[in-house]
Amino acid sequence: MKVMAFVGSGRKEGNTSKIVGAICDGIKENGHDVEIYNLSELDNKGCRACGLCQANKVEYCSINDKMTELLPKIADADCIIVGTPVYMLQVSGHTKQFLDRMFTFFIESNNTTRILPGKKYITVTCSGAPAEAFKNVTEYLNIIFGGYSKMVNAGNIIAGNLGDKDDILSQQEILKQAEEIGRKLN
Ligand SMILES: Cc1cc2nc3c(=O)[nH]c(=O)nc-3n(C[C@H](O)[C@H](O)[C@H](O)COP(=O)(O)O)c2cc1C
Repeated sequence: MKVMAFVGSGRKEGNTSKIVGAICDGIKENGHDVEIYNLSELDNKGCRACGLCQANKVEYCSINDKMTELLPKIADADCIIVGTPVYMLQVSGHTKQFLDRMFTFFIESNNTTRILPGKKYITVTCSGAPAEAFKNVTEYLNIIFGGYSKMVNAGNIIAGNLGDKDDILSQQEILKQAEEIGRKLN
């Protein structure tokens, strides 16, 4: 099983990264391949709305950047993990830039996607506010991946009360939940 994990925090080794890391530890226990990417380091140039992906004029994307290199790998993966902090009430900008580039998989005529249906996905959200405050961010990701993309939800982690980068270490139950989600992935 091939798994790609994307961390949308601007801060390396922060809470999002630690929870995603715990999921990946659980996944690796079963011998699966996991690659973790920090979205802030991807030099994602952002969708230019050229329309070439939708018109099938390019395989995945006309932009020459690292994100375009990753699109075929996403197409080949069995599961993707998307972890994001809440920034200004929504997913972080790094995460949004990533989601925009997933447009290559969208088929506008029937509001669904190519290639992604049937793959698994896991989401992680982290906020400064209590976890209940930003369930809508998880719902948003579930609409994109579970709804339009018809991917299979393999877990949603919603963590709150996180300010300093190590705060999640005092919420061991969340890290255990994350490892368990990883362990159950098959
Ligand atoms: C630019 C920015 C905007 C933020 N906006 C919110 C917000 O709207 N609501 C909230 O609860 N927390 C907000 N936070 C706090 C982060 O969501 C929280 O600290 C999270 O744990 C950061 O994830 P990280 O530890 O992986 O970097 C914001 C943090 C930053 C840096």
